[in-house]
Amino acid sequence: MTMGGLPGHEAASEPHEANSLDGAGPNVEYCTMAFQGYMRRAVPAADPELTQIGPGTPCGEYLRRIWQPVIMANRLEDLPVAVRMMGEDLVVFRDGSGAIGLLNRHCSHRGASLEYGVIRERGISCCYHGWHYACDGTVLDIPGEASGSRIRDKVIHGAYPTREYRGVVFAYMGPPGTAPDFPIYDTYGLPGIEAVPFHLTIPCNWLQVYENTQDPVHVLHLHAQATGVQFAQSNAVRQLYDFMPTPLGMMNLQVRRMGGRAWVRTVECMLPNANQTGAIWEEAEAEKVFQRVGITRWVVPVDDTDTAILGWRWFGRDVDPRDQGDRAKVGFGSIDFMGQGEPRPYEEVQRQPGDYEAQVSQRPIAVHGLENLASSDRGVAMLRQLVRQGIRRLAREGRLDQPATDDVIPTYTQDSVLPLPQGAGDDEAVLMAFGRALVAAMLEDKSVGHAARAARIRAVAADHVAGRQG
Ligand code: FES
Ligand SMILES: [Fe+2]
Repeated sequence: MTMGGLPGHEAASEPHEANSLDGAGPNVEYCTMAFQGYMRRAVPAADPELTQIGPGTPCGEYLRRIWQPVIMANRLEDLPVAVRMMGEDLVVFRDGSGAIGLLNRHCSHRGASLEYGVIRERGISCCYHGWHYACDGTVLDIPGEASGSRIRDKVIHGAYPTREYRGVVFAYMGPPGTAPDFPIYDTYGLPGIEAVPFHLTIPCNWLQVYENTQDPVHVLHLHAQATGVQFAQSNAVRQLYDFMPTPLGMMNLQVRRMGGRAWVRTVECMLPNANQTGAIWEEAEAEKVFQRVGITRWVVPVDDTDTAILGWRWFGRDVDPRDQGDRAKVGFGSIDFMGQGEPRPYEEVQRQPGDYEAQVSQRPIAVHGLENLASSDRGVAMLRQLVRQGIRRLAREGRLDQPATDDVIPTYTQDSVLPLPQGAGDDEAVLMAFGRALVAAMLEDKSVGHAARAARIRAVAADHVAGRQG
């Protein structure tokens, strides 16, 4: 394994095994020497299995097996839109009949871009010689050909099936015939909650954006301590945390002491690249049993070094009791909370960096071989492991297990703020036992009805407290 005895070379030889959760990485023999710049110049390759998403790559195949968001539906007007996703150049449009086409951008005739095409009642025509395609890629007409020409029957242009849902256009980019049902999560249908679509882009690899959602420690440091409180004051309260699998992926559990109550937050990743996060400005000042999500989003690769974050911000009293959200700021290229890539002067982003600066500055593709994962990175390590397992399972079995979606699918992101008196003894142990009891109840309960799930959480929390006191 060692190449020349220099630590950088060791790392280069095994790029994704050089880090270690117990600190016993290959560089350990040099740990006592100061001034190590000379030793640490080598930059090994990023982990290709998890970070390369182009056509034919293992991770690209994995991410193509679910419905992925492509564009906000309100951007589809009278002109086609050039888009790039999963390393493919595409064009998306809504034709005169209302159908949405997602087609390979370059015309099957001689390659002119269909972003200059003419939208028809049915499909789109290329600007150059008029080849006319339906939304499924079939050739409807070739104006320059004689009536007996057979070429129209021999060519089918590349196209992907689409589905419009709550103002977002989704596409299935996997092999024909393998599309799963479109998943409907239980967070979509809650009364009094409004979905507002958004679409952000960030110039770095998808994985480092996605794994940020399983990194609860950055909430305390980046968002509350490093340069002041960015969202809620409650983010400055040190959280206890743990990580666990869910039926759709994994989640982190965060527990904080808030006076005579415990604030139990869970944040779930629905593999391969979806996430739901709770209220942005949650102050945990009032009792609440089972508050759901402020964001549902997919972290979609544009290519290996650019990523789209597409989904919905959810608005309503239940997820924003202080009415701090701003629907007007949520849309294409913007969202209503700081640090997500909004234009800011360089000095300002240095003085108050946000998620965007932290993630982009990890390099265009974060190099796992140079990291030193700590115990607080267990969630990041677990997420990478689950993604890797999914990639390998697909390669081995040719399919992914996906929920049958005749029914609404239960998800597990939530906030509870419930009584938990502070007693004698180790309060951290008390808090974590309470958090774990609530998580266990949530995971055992297979129902999707909000009221039933909330009632069960309230009952389990009360029983837990009574048990401690009894
Ligand atoms: S290049 Fe598109 S019709 Fe000729
Ligand atoms: Fe963050």
